[in-house]
Amino acid sequence: ERQKNDRIYYDINRQAGRYFYDNLVQGRNLAQDYLIKRGLTVKAIKSFGLGYALDGWDYLLNYLIKKGYTKEDIEKSGLIVKSKQKDSYYDRFRKRIMFPIFDVRGNVIAFGGRVLDDALPKYLNSPETKYFNKSEILYGLHIARKNAINGQGILVEGYMDVIALHQQGLKNTVATLGTSLTQGHAVTLKKYFNEIVICFDGDSAGIKATLRSIEILQNVHIDIKVLTLPNNMDPDDFIKKKGKDAFEKKIKEALNFIDYKIYIAQQKYSSKSLEDQIKLGKAVANILKDIKSPIEQETYLKNIEEKIGISKDAIIAEMYGRKVSMN
Ligand code: UTP
Ligand code: MN
Ligand code: MN
Ligand code: MN
Ligand code: MN
Repeated sequence: ERQKNDRIYYDINRQAGRYFYDNLVQGRNLAQDYLIKRGLTVKAIKSFGLGYALDGWDYLLNYLIKKGYTKEDIEKSGLIVKSKQKDSYYDRFRKRIMFPIFDVRGNVIAFGGRVLDDALPKYLNSPETKYFNKSEILYGLHIARKNAINGQGILVEGYMDVIALHQQGLKNTVATLGTSLTQGHAVTLKKYFNEIVICFDGDSAGIKATLRSIEILQNVHIDIKVLTLPNNMDPDDFIKKKGKDAFEKKIKEALNFIDYKIYIAQQKYSSKSLEDQIKLGKAVANILKDIKSPIEQETYLKNIEEKIGISKDAIIAEMYGRKVSMN
């Protein structure tokens, strides 16, 4: 019985994916124009199985009923919603570009749907089910798991970032789906990669998420690098504007996470005021205190004065002369 339910869930989602895909590729439509305008290749559209949910209340519902599925099973798949007033159902996704979400084995387990304009929410996702847990799934992993580059994986924020990078040959890219990285994500990443290059959006939310993700990834002992993008650019914007070579150069120049944290502290306390200088010194002391390897720590300390203009001795005194602060 349980196995049968599993099969129905996967089948319905797969059939829906096929239906959305057919909508997209049959004849010209708004969704095709949109994806072409955003620079996606036909090959990328195919390999990620992108599709289009038409503008109507029951296209998918009727399609799946015709295929022989019950409304109850379709509802369990997350693709239709039961109306609150009446005893009827309607399609969850309408007039959206559809991104199938795959589990690591390549089963379609959910969808993300993007509006074609500035309407909100920008992306609507399938509800969480026992098969689809947002805090565990990594978008693109079913491809990226076999495409680590020298053990390296790239971690981005969103659907379009993954597709844009894969399309340029960086098939080692995966995304958290807007949620912050969890311990579960980290354990999964460790299974397939030795090193993660964090490449979140170059906005303040992206920086915050990067700092949080560093802490979580450290727990699973994976090497961490951080690629920084210009403000208000994401990996998709960057690679489309500057090209693959520029992106690969960014990967080569990615900072190790200690240097990244120092860099962020320098940005935060950037004025030459005494107050900022003091805060910077304290922040750096806190960052260096966490380095476990004495050799690594000493190497940073040796270079710190040149970097931030505060002596090694003062930093060391700060590191050991003060209680551990929570941040
Ligand atoms: P972003 O806001 O950075 O969107 O959210 P994006 O990926 O750059 O999208 P485009 O380029 O405008 O199409 C990052 C990710 O967060 C999730 C999605 O997975 C998105 O890709 N998200 C974002 C949602 O689930 N819902 C939203 O309304 C917005
Ligand atoms: Mn975000
Ligand atoms: Mn973002
Ligand atoms: Mn984007
Ligand atoms: Mn983005």
